[in-house]
Parts: sequence; structure tokens; C-alpha cells
Amino acid sequence: MSRAPRLASERALILAPYGRDAQVAAAVLKEAGVEAAICPDLAAVRTSCEDGAGTALIVEEILQEDDYSGLARWVDAQPPWSDFPIIILAQRGGGLERNPAAARYSRALGNVTFLERPFHPTTLVSVVQTALRGRRRQYEARERLETLRAAVVRQQQDQQHQRLLINELNHRVKNTLATVQSIAAQTLRGASAPLGARDALASRIVALSKAHDVLTSEQWSGANLDEIALQAMQPFRLGLGEERIVVEGPRVRVPPKTAIAVALALHELATNAVKYGALSNADGHVTFRWEVGKGRAAQKLTAVWREADGPPVTPPTRAGFGTRLIERGLASDLNGEVAIAYPRDGVVCTIHANLDDEGEPARATPLPRRLAVADDDGAGASPAA
Ligand SMILES: Nc1ncnc2c1ncn2[C@@H]1O[C@H](COP(=O)(O)OP(=O)(O)O)[C@@H](O)[C@H]1O
Ligand SMILES: [Mg+2]
Repeated sequence: MSRAPRLASERALILAPYGRDAQVAAAVLKEAGVEAAICPDLAAVRTSCEDGAGTALIVEEILQEDDYSGLARWVDAQPPWSDFPIIILAQRGGGLERNPAAARYSRALGNVTFLERPFHPTTLVSVVQTALRGRRRQYEARERLETLRAAVVRQQQDQQHQRLLINELNHRVKNTLATVQSIAAQTLRGASAPLGARDALASRIVALSKAHDVLTSEQWSGANLDEIALQAMQPFRLGLGEERIVVEGPRVRVPPKTAIAVALALHELATNAVKYGALSNADGHVTFRWEVGKGRAAQKLTAVWREADGPPVTPPTRAGFGTRLIERGLASDLNGEVAIAYPRDGVVCTIHANLDDEGEPARATPLPRRLAVADDDGAGASPAA
């Protein structure tokens, strides 16, 4: 919308090309503090409307003689906030009921008021001022609409910005994980490194990075547990057959921290099952099932990893990295408890997590804006700096 000066948008257009009617009307309005612009014909009225006007006064004879379809089209094409008021200066005795043309004008020109001639100057002023007051309301509505629209656009831009930042951050995290992996590989190449340590470390880093991928696709707002679990199990299901690892549970969304904790726990559990448990022979199998509480307990998640038909289990005498990671490290990330039991017929790991992520810092927290302009060495990437 063009930014017409305030006066233009509040002026009254006058089309009364007979005698001195227009001049007289303009003078009366001016006296009352209303700016008036005299138009020579309907085309000029239309152009002036486009430039901005508060109302238009048109003598009825013009509408009888001239083609007003151009003005009608402009009326039709008004934006939703606009309902331009038109005052038709009707001929004597041309009251609505006796004047079939009047209904036609109303249909074509919309917001029409008829003012029968001759009229008292005070009547003219009050009719015009009423029209202008209505028009002012329309301008207010327009302003509110524009403010709303701007807010929506801003919100969309912010969301896009946030998506960009999250993608950027994820990209950097992935690069960092790759660097960590390569440093670890170089370091562990030395003769003193325990056998298999390199592969174990590499596969843990891959598990972490895959959980990051799931979270990134969801803008780090959280993840569906089935997606996280299936993805963590995917390499094992691919290698051993899907039927040996069953993943089952209702659709539940978990906070990012929980998603990563579960992904890493599953990775350790599956690796152990392959090394010592139900996935180490030909017939053993594993189920990972979960449920969420109902009603008040809707935020409580219980997930159980259960092995069966593996070699007989003997409770271990030492806790390795897997056990420590699951029982201690992840319990706090899960905001709950984790317990591993070693019954003879198969390991059972029970996870109780609280999904209420109040105070969960990773959830939909806008990243610092300056990340966007961080330099290549990533110096700007530390939110704490
Ligand atoms: N699924 C399992 N079945 C039987 N024993 C297991 C299973 N998982 C773990 N264990 C026992 O628990 C021990 C500790 O496991 P963990 O903490 O992951 O360390 P690591 O895998 O390095 O041995 C293992 O050495 C093994 O004896
Ligand atoms: Mg282990």
C-alpha cells in the first residue's frame, strides 16, 4: 500500500460538475475542518481513491450518465480491511424506494449513503464526518493487520534463522566428532592400546553421532523413542537379522538428553549382547520394550531390555565401561534410574526415565545469534565465551 500523506487518506473527494455545487460543498466542508478535493470526472475519482481518500461525494446524475464500472471494479478489489464509504448526492425525490437505480448503485459501489438534495450544510458535514470516522476505523484495522503480518513474518524469519544455526551447529559437532575419532585412532595405534579399543571407541562415537542426526532432523526439539531405538539397533539388526532384535512401544516423544542417553545405552547393551549375551550365539534374541504411565504419571517412561535364549549368564565380577556408562553416567541424563540384572537366562536392563524436561536446556533454546557469524576456526561457536 502506498504511503499516502495523512491528509490524502482523510480527504473527501467531490464529483459534482454542475454549476458551483462542488465549490460550495468544498467550502462548507473546509469550514468544518474537512479537506476536500474536487474531481472533474469518475476516472479522476478512481485515481484519487488509489492515492488515498476518506470518502467520496458523487452527484447522482453522473452515475446516470457515465460508466462507473471502473470505480465499481476498484471498490470490488479493495483489501479486506477496506470498505470505502461513498456518499451519493441524490436528486430531489429520488428516495431509495422510488429509485430503482439506487439499489444498483449500492450493489456496485458497496458502502453507499444517499443524501437527498437540497440538504442543509450541517447535514452534509455530519454525513461526511460519519463516513470519515468509519474510514478511520478501517485504517486502524489495516494497521493492526499489518502489525500482525509483520509479526508472523518475523517469527518465520526467526524460525528459519534458528534452523540454520542448528544445522550449522550440528555440522560442527559432527566435524568435531570425526576429529575426536581420528585423534583417538592415531593415539590408540600405539602398541600399548588394548585390543579392540579402537573399534569400540569408533563405534561409540558413531552411535552418538547418529543420535545427533535424528535430533537435528527435529530441530533438537526432541525425538520419537522408536526412531532413536531403531536407529541405534540398525547396525545390529542388519548384521544379525531383524527378528533377533525386537523394538516395541507406544509412540512417545523424549527430550534430546533422554534421546542421546537411550541411544548410547542401547549401543552398549547390544555390543555386550553380541560379546557375551543373547546375540553371541545363533538362537538368542533381545526385546526392547517401553511404556509410559497414564494420567499423572504420563511423564514416566519405563523401558526394558531383555535377553533370552543366550548362553547361561554368570553375574560379572567387574564393571567395564558399558556398565559404568549405563548405570551411572546415563541415569542422571535420563533424570531417572537404570539397573542391570544378570539372571541366568538373560540380562535384563530396566530404565526409568522422567520425560518432564523442565529446565531441560537443550529444548528449543535459541542459540546465540553470533553463531551465525562465527569465523572458520569456530572461535565464535562457544556460547559461553
Ligand atoms: N548381555 C550380557 N550377557 C552376559 N554377560 C554380560 C552381558 N553384558 C555384560 N556382561 C558381563 O558384564 C561385564 C561388564 O560389561 P561391560 O561393563 O560392558 O564391560 P566390557 O564390555 O568391557 O566387558 C562383561 O564383561 C560381562 O561379563
Ligand atoms: Mg561392554
